[in-house]
Amino acid sequence: MMARAHPEFALRPFLIEDTPLLAEIFRASIEELTGDDYTEGQQRAWASAADNEKAFARRLSGQLTLIATMNGSPIGFASLASNETIDLIYVHPAVVGQGAGTMLVDALAKLAAARGGKRLTADVSDSAQDFFKKRGFTAQQRNTVLRGGEWLANTTMEKTLAAKEAAA
Ligand SMILES: CC(C)(COP(=O)(O)OP(=O)(O)OC[C@H]1O[C@@H](n2cnc3c(N)ncnc32)[C@H](O)[C@@H]1OP(=O)(O)O)[C@@H](O)C(=O)NCCC(=O)NCCS
Repeated sequence: MMARAHPEFALRPFLIEDTPLLAEIFRASIEELTGDDYTEGQQRAWASAADNEKAFARRLSGQLTLIATMNGSPIGFASLASNETIDLIYVHPAVVGQGAGTMLVDALAKLAAARGGKRLTADVSDSAQDFFKKRGFTAQQRNTVLRGGEWLANTTMEKTLAAKEAAA
C-alpha cells in the first residue's frame, strides 16, 4: 500500500480549524495542476468555491472529510458526501505524485464500503481522470457544470466496491 511506501504520510479527520489551510491547498491545486485542461477563467471560477470560508467550512464539515498530512502538516484532503459519492479530492502541488491522493481514495473507499456503499462515484475533473482510471474507476457520463459563472466539463466515474474493501 502507498502509505507504507511513504511512511511520512498519515490520515486524520478534518477539524474546523483546518479550513483556511485546506482552502489554500484547494486553490494551489487548481491553479497549478489543472491548467492543461481548463482556462484561467475556469480555474478562477472553480477555485472561488473556497472564497467564502464559512461556506467552505460547512461543506467540509457536512461531509466525511479526511486530511492527508506529511510530518503532521496537512498536504491534501478528500471528502465523502454520501456512502457512495466523493465530493472533493485535492493534493498540494508540492507533494503531488507521491501517493497522498491514492491513500485518500483508498481510505474513502473503505469507509464508504463500511457504511454499506456498493459503489463509489465522483464527478472527476479532466486533470484527474487518469488518476481515477488507474484506481479502478470507469467513466459513466460526461457533464458540463456551471461553477462561479463559468461552464466546466467533468466526467462521472464509478468503481464497484468489493465487500472485502470494508473489512480491510
Ligand atoms: C488528482 C490528485 C488528487 C491526485 O493526487 P496525488 O497525490 O498526485 O496522487 P498519487 O500520487 O497517489 O497518484 C499520482 C498518479 O496520478 C497521476 N497524476 C495525475 N496528475 C498528476 C500530476 N500533476 N503530477 C503527478 N502525477 C499526476 C500520476 O500519473 C500518478 O499515477 P500512477 O502513480 O498511478 O502512475 C491531484 O493530482 C490533484 O489534486 N489534482 C488537481 C485537482 C483535481 O483535479 N482534483 C480532482 C477533482 S475531481
